[in-house]
Amino acid sequence: MNSSTGWERLEPKLEAMARRVRSLEWDPSRRNSFVPYEIETDSAYVRADDGERYLMMSGYSYLGLLGDPRVTEAAKAALDKYGTGNQGVRALAGTIPLHHELEAEIAQVMQREAALVFGSGYAVNTGVVGGMVGPGDTLLIDKYVHASLVDGCKLSGATVTRWRHNDPEHLERRLQMSSPDGMRVVIIDSVYSMDGDIAPLPEIREVCDRYGALIMSDEAHALGVIGKTGRGIEEHFGSFDLVDLKVGTLSKGIPSMGGWVVASKKLLLYLRYHARPFLFSASLGPAQTGAALAALRIMQQEPERVEHIQRESARLRSILVGAGINVGDSETAVIPIICGSDENAYDYATACKKAGIVGLPVVSPAVPTGLARLRIAITARHTTADIDFAAEAFLTAAKQTNLVAA
Ligand SMILES: Cc1ncc(COP(=O)(O)O)c(C=O)c1O
Repeated sequence: MNSSTGWERLEPKLEAMARRVRSLEWDPSRRNSFVPYEIETDSAYVRADDGERYLMMSGYSYLGLLGDPRVTEAAKAALDKYGTGNQGVRALAGTIPLHHELEAEIAQVMQREAALVFGSGYAVNTGVVGGMVGPGDTLLIDKYVHASLVDGCKLSGATVTRWRHNDPEHLERRLQMSSPDGMRVVIIDSVYSMDGDIAPLPEIREVCDRYGALIMSDEAHALGVIGKTGRGIEEHFGSFDLVDLKVGTLSKGIPSMGGWVVASKKLLLYLRYHARPFLFSASLGPAQTGAALAALRIMQQEPERVEHIQRESARLRSILVGAGINVGDSETAVIPIICGSDENAYDYATACKKAGIVGLPVVSPAVPTGLARLRIAITARHTTADIDFAAEAFLTAAKQTNLVAA
């Protein structure tokens, strides 16, 4: 069998990718993607594979619970009790009592009737969107929603229309143009992962109510981060009936794996049989389930973690803005430091690393061309002294790379 033609057709794509990575990471000091970091379980520091210790400023573990002994012990207890995996998918032999306990806890935290836990946040978003709507329905997505939601839209077969980021007036124009015949579902991220801004939910709700449209929000970067006690966008805006369908992950503020959807029992019963990643993929492992449950409980017992994240994020943001650094519309723990070109972002990340901190660049196509950035995330592990150190390093590096005047 001669497969050379197939490989020859792939070759230009492989070469283009290799060239792109080389153009940004041409020197070991500029290497940013796929670097293995060893975490320290009692600090925000990591050790990279160059042997050096850095303050991690781009990690997702918002609540600072990664490596927390209580969470690790809960994972170990689940391992001891249930072993390293489950016996298949949830619908068959793959459900363990711990799944039900975790689902009850998530439903309680999110103030909904029930929850369903999936193997990842990605699986939730593709599964829920793809399973709930179909041809004849319309999905109206904020231009910046996460890729997993975009993929769910593609899988659904519904008509998909995008509206301008965080712009309820533009959403209304799109709703006016959409077909009133099928279901209309507006999809937002509660907190946008690349910009750290919050969806203007009350205004979006008002618009949606005029057209009978449902709202689905992704709480990935909101759980543990916004709202007085970390319960996300509804708590942030002071009312728990603003969203029709909430989804989220257990891999960010909650230091585990997995994803969840909360809704009425009736809708979740339907999704059990129609969300394909739920039906056709193995259930969440016992250790991850146990860890997620413990972390959710700690979040509720220790609201000071959320308060710390919010306070220190605001403090770092105000220092950066005061020094003339562009942080876009950030208002949460995600703070983008906007650098311009992809090369500028790499230059800046390299200078930050020399100053002792890891701030990871996000370049096109993940963000629009010309808006490459370091995506900074503040966690409850960052002490006030860490934030002071990081601020100093960000400013020194900004001067060295002409991001601000020296
Ligand atoms: C907004 C958002 N939604 C969903 C996901 C997917 O979650 P997971 O990593 O648990 O699959 C992510 C992860 O990066 C995300 O940022």
